[in-house]
Amino acid sequence: MKALVLAGGKGTRLRPLTYTTAKQLIPVANKPIIFFVLEQIKAAGIDEVGVIISPETGQAVREAVGDGSRWGIRIAYILQPEPLGLAHAVKVARPFLAGDPFLMFLGDNLIQGGVRPALEAFSRPGGPEALIMLKKVPDPRQFGVAVLDSEGRVVRLVEKPEEPPSDLALVGIYFFRPAIHQAIERIKPSWRQELEITDAIQQLLGMGLRVEARLVDGWWLDTGKKDDILEANRAVLDEYTRPEIKGEVCPATKIVGRVMIGAGAKVKNSTVRGPVVIGEDACIEDCFIGPFTAIGPCSRLKNVSVEHSVILENCFLANVYRIEDSLIGKNTRVNRLNDPRQALRLFLGDDSEVVITL
Ligand code: DAU
Repeated sequence: MKALVLAGGKGTRLRPLTYTTAKQLIPVANKPIIFFVLEQIKAAGIDEVGVIISPETGQAVREAVGDGSRWGIRIAYILQPEPLGLAHAVKVARPFLAGDPFLMFLGDNLIQGGVRPALEAFSRPGGPEALIMLKKVPDPRQFGVAVLDSEGRVVRLVEKPEEPPSDLALVGIYFFRPAIHQAIERIKPSWRQELEITDAIQQLLGMGLRVEARLVDGWWLDTGKKDDILEANRAVLDEYTRPEIKGEVCPATKIVGRVMIGAGAKVKNSTVRGPVVIGEDACIEDCFIGPFTAIGPCSRLKNVSVEHSVILENCFLANVYRIEDSLIGKNTRVNRLNDPRQALRLFLGDDSEVVITL
């Protein structure tokens, strides 16, 4: 059994962050999303992993992920010259996949509890040709959608339907046997000019092959947009944060709940209410750091209150009261000056967003 992780694509919905980084490398709880994916693949017992990369962000993905030895897996990088769809990525990876069954995992998806139970169901003797994972969602129009019959068999799939035939969204985690390659040969590009894996699975059904579905019980996060990243950060901090203080905390600081403070970090005269992670060599002074916040390595916060936010590395934030629901990219500076002319002076990258509520 092999795994194929998709870390190509354009990431347009996460601009401006994705101008300088791959969306799969955006950290939640101070760890790139793709690292969680690779950990779950290893935990399911798969050691051989192909990672699809794009010409634009491939080098950054390679540098961050490396050869896989830190997870005890072997990684082969596969260049997809253009983001022509999930099924196209499988096509490009065909020499790597050879005739093996494989787990395909979108590099920006996270699920609670990992993929081992699904892998076991797929690999059992007499297991199906493909196994998909589904989650009930309130608005399935932005996903692939599946229809099951009264016995729970998959009967139809449709990609991003305007009028969804069910509330069951396709999670970006799939198990396939080699028949998927024949199915991909038979499909045509969709209205968005992509070869859709959803259409290829529909094709498997048309070929009379069995596709099974499993419902995801816990959370599922597709980190396509800013609010999804914040939600992923919330869920991951809630699940994985444990109290661990490696940095320096002065006696005037109050730590409440589960807080991780990295080596070399300094927290002075502040209140930190977990779950929170503070990266290595960060510096926090006269602050309130509220629940569900991740502060990246080397960031400095002075006289700031922040909650439910992701602040990446090497930022400087000062004298700002109540930052919430915010996603702040690397090396960003936000400062309030003591100036009677109340004005905003902004220097923002393309596609940035500022919401002012005072
Ligand atoms: O997240 C689940 C959804 O993922 C499913 O419900 C849909 O059926 C499925 O089509 C897919 O939809 P998205 O529109 O959200 O896919 P997106 O374009 O965001 O790509 C998903 C991941 O795959 C992302 O990490 C980028 C990568 N990718 C994407 C394309 C189109 C590639 O590596 N190559 C590609 O050509």
